[in-house]
Amino acid sequence: MRKKIIAGNWKMNKTIEEAVELAAAIKRDLADCKAVDVVLCPPFTAIKSVSDVVSETLINVGAQNMSSEEEGAYTGEISHNMLKELFVRYVILGHSERREYYKENDYWINRKVLKALEKKLRPILCVGEKLEQREAGETEKVVEVQIREGLKGVPAEAYADVVIAYEPVWAIGTGKTATAEQAQEVHAFIRGLVREMVGDQAAQTVRIQYGGSMKPGNAPELLAQPDIDGGLIGGAALEASSFVGIVKAAL
Ligand code: 13P
Repeated sequence: MRKKIIAGNWKMNKTIEEAVELAAAIKRDLADCKAVDVVLCPPFTAIKSVSDVVSETLINVGAQNMSSEEEGAYTGEISHNMLKELFVRYVILGHSERREYYKENDYWINRKVLKALEKKLRPILCVGEKLEQREAGETEKVVEVQIREGLKGVPAEAYADVVIAYEPVWAIGTGKTATAEQAQEVHAFIRGLVREMVGDQAAQTVRIQYGGSMKPGNAPELLAQPDIDGGLIGGAALEASSFVGIVKAAL
């Protein structure tokens, strides 16, 4: 049985003070949450403060990006060591906003995934099609390339530490959620693909989150689907009551 995982991607929101307030409010309800893995992914500048707030709780901290390199002359980048020092356990990689605005490609995303796993950070690899790709019937083709390239070289036994987030780009921040059936269909496709790539054991253990306008209202139906193992939450993660509501839907 896969443990559900709900992660809040705070994106470029929250000053340190605001982040501490949000993390403290979430902690009030979820400090001892065992049944679901809860992950907060603040911007880099607030990671330390959020880590301090949730230390000695079961709440995990994640980052929104990470360099594929060790250290050195990479202006503006953040390394695995810098994250681990702040008790970061998860790292979002290849988010569609990074692919779109910062031109991250599958090659670099794959290098980051491999580096994260090597250094015992759990990657949350984001994949998903754009609206025109869905309308052209290319959803599976697009997602397949992102998965095959993004997870290239990941051994079967590492899939227990891999999280895949299926985030249809047209559903992000738009209020348009994929229907539970649409999401389940792609999730089942992704699990089948992992089975084909590295075998059934890995396919059964890898966790696949849905992301895109998930809210307390639509979370129960999405999370009830057999291949949806959690959510990667944007807008609704910025308010404690809605984030907590989604986690409760996963219990
Ligand atoms: P929204 O929940 O705001 O649609 O964002 C989803 C997302 O991009 C999470 O990474």
